[in-house]
Amino acid sequence: MEPVLVVHGGAGNKPYFIEEKKDGISNALEAGYVILKSGGSALDAVVKAVVVMEDDPHFNAGYGSVCGIDGQIEMDASVMTSDGRFGAVAAIKNVKNPVLIARKVMEETEHHLIVGENATRFARVMGFGSFNPLTPEQEKRYREYKSPSYYSKVDEFRKLYGLGTVGAIAIDKNGDMAVAASTGGLFMHLPGRVGDTPIIGAGIYANALGAVTFTGFGERIMKNLLGKVVVEMLKDFEPYEAVRRLIQQYDFPFGVILIDKKGRTAIAHSSRYMAWGTISRKGKQVEIE
Ligand code: GLY
Repeated sequence: MEPVLVVHGGAGNKPYFIEEKKDGISNALEAGYVILKSGGSALDAVVKAVVVMEDDPHFNAGYGSVCGIDGQIEMDASVMTSDGRFGAVAAIKNVKNPVLIARKVMEETEHHLIVGENATRFARVMGFGSFNPLTPEQEKRYREYKSPSYYSKVDEFRKLYGLGTVGAIAIDKNGDMAVAASTGGLFMHLPGRVGDTPIIGAGIYANALGAVTFTGFGERIMKNLLGKVVVEMLKDFEPYEAVRRLIQQYDFPFGVILIDKKGRTAIAHSSRYMAWGTISRKGKQVEIE
């Protein structure tokens, strides 16, 4: 099987850090593809690609995550493999790379999802130190838009949110697929809010048919279980046709990257913009469109 890696750097209404995001996506693609090219696993490749974007302050994940309404950063992340393994953390604080903690949940525990301060405690037990993910840019943004009236502002915040969430999907030389995702969530969210990213079958899903991850309006992605829905559609449709039907059917802003067991990929969005990239033996492509 010819390895392929696809990443996204978020979908939304209002892009920011466009050139920086293009560089970050390119770096994530290179870092993940080195692993695939040398015979490494899809899981290692997608986790590495997401770590690169979490470490980059221009993405809403890890360092660079957006603030909630209380000025705190709570992050969600998850990983899943085509043989059905899954791990996630939600509303985790003060860690550098939530996706690495999600992988530990998958590989070191009998659980699938650990949340809140106990997710942070779990990270410490697994040897991950304390890290403040607040960048000067996101602190400034929080101060500018801080409002006691969350409920009247939530749509405005959603529009301001820009391109958020990062994710990666891959197939390796053995035909194994994996997906990883990470996010700081919705700008100005209520404390304890969890989006679609760590919810199996919603923002992330994989099975023997394919692997997928979403970006965009998390509550709606979650409510409609888009991850499970689109992977099941691979029984009847090629990836491109599956995502086309999804975009036709659901009337809210989202972005999606999908790969099937033959290594065919689809990238699509109903949001105004999406940042994405793909790499394989055929070459590398990075777009914000
Ligand atoms: N799609 C990311 C979130 O809503 O948290």
